[in-house]
Amino acid sequence: MANVTVIGAQWGDEGKGKIIDWLSNRADMVVRFQGGNNAGHTIVVGDKTYKLSLLPSGVVQGKRSIIGNGVVVDVWSLLDEIERVGGAGLKVTPDILVLAENAELVLPLHRELDALREEAASQKLGTTKRGIGPAYEDKVGRRAIRAIDLKDIAGLPAKIERLLAHHNVLRKGFGAAEADAGALLESLKEIAPKIVPFIGSSWRELDAARRAGKRVLFEGAQAVLLDIDHGTYPFVTSSNTVAGQAAAGAGISPRQIGTVLGIVKSYTTRVGEGPFPTELKDATGEKLGERGREFGTVTGRKRRCGWFASVLVRQTIIAGGVDGITLTKLDVLDGFPEIKLCVGYELDGKMLDYLPADANEQARLKPIYETMEGWSDSTHGARSWAQLPANAIKYVRRVEELIGAPVALLSTSPDRDDTIMVIDPFVDR
Ligand code: GDP
Ligand code: IMO
Ligand code: MG
Repeated sequence: MANVTVIGAQWGDEGKGKIIDWLSNRADMVVRFQGGNNAGHTIVVGDKTYKLSLLPSGVVQGKRSIIGNGVVVDVWSLLDEIERVGGAGLKVTPDILVLAENAELVLPLHRELDALREEAASQKLGTTKRGIGPAYEDKVGRRAIRAIDLKDIAGLPAKIERLLAHHNVLRKGFGAAEADAGALLESLKEIAPKIVPFIGSSWRELDAARRAGKRVLFEGAQAVLLDIDHGTYPFVTSSNTVAGQAAAGAGISPRQIGTVLGIVKSYTTRVGEGPFPTELKDATGEKLGERGREFGTVTGRKRRCGWFASVLVRQTIIAGGVDGITLTKLDVLDGFPEIKLCVGYELDGKMLDYLPADANEQARLKPIYETMEGWSDSTHGARSWAQLPANAIKYVRRVEELIGAPVALLSTSPDRDDTIMVIDPFVDR
């Protein structure tokens, strides 16, 4: 039985949530394996819209869902989210949701440090200010507080002391007040009984699922160009977003990640700072943003827009370990007389067919475009290949050729059902 791992193959917000929700119908479990509540995954089912940040998208279809050990978890935000989706009719109880005992917590002091740094920096990163970077730093620095620690209140003061010894030096440097150990202890004590019922073991759950022949869907957040190693460093997030992270971030064999589906938008967007060679700061960029409703789910920030860059996706497919893609938001390109694809870059007179690792070079890249004729008919809501205009099919085929991977699924509106399956990613091949 094949598993499927879904990752973002651009700079995020490609429509992962929609596709994971659609695929979760065919899965038994859904597992998040990295990131935190910097993610914003939107799922539209008829007249209902769900915006998920920490909850795996499987909860919408009532599937057993795991927040794996690779995720950094703001437990206050998690409870708010559970309450919010509860109001929309989704019951998220410990029968459905498991929080890995060895996941690290995002604390208020992480959010504060994230914001202090962004405010002080001359070159901002444009983070979501959710404390994600500082929380991962503490994880790697071996001073984090983990979910399991909420089961041992007596052990918390010593852990808090160790953590604050580090943070108070940093806070002093920013002219901020020292963190209050007593207040942090109290708030952890208060939240512990609400979180403890969800705590479990990701690796054991997944081992049992494997033995029982269950199908598991691994849900990536962010995307390969935001990966801490493979992205546009330093304008990246603080986790690995590539498919291989599903193994480390959930506690499974790398052989269990199954087919890797990269989610790719039919054009390109980016929220936050950093190089974006095909960015359009003109009427065409505005039109893409308006038609695609490109506003961030988490921060409400306007997303920067530009043409599709096959040169980037070809690279993220290789570095991210992608077998096939889902091309989303094809409908947003309806009505553009011509559509451009960036097939390479020019750097100081030389042609490149990849994104160089150097940030200064990335900032100097000039896109090389190929132009295709657009289509005037609507693809919005198309549910079969036969409903697509000939030029839209040509575009999809050209994308496949340029990126070197097949289109397994195609998405033509925010709604769950407006999805075309070309290849079933759950079928082992
Ligand atoms: P994620 O972070 O990758 O899950 O993506 P987001 O949910 O942050 O952003 C994608 C946005 O595009 C959401 O508002 C979706 O409802 C919407 N969306 C997804 N697929 C399509 C599509 O095929 N067409 C259109 N028009 N919108 C889509
Ligand atoms: P989903 O899962 C798009 C971006 C931020 C910023 C950088 C670092 O919805 O695709 P961080 O708060 O992670 O330290 O910010 O990463 N970023 C995202 N951009 N989609 C996301 O998630 C993102 N998560 C983080 O805007 O540029
Ligand atoms: Mg998003």
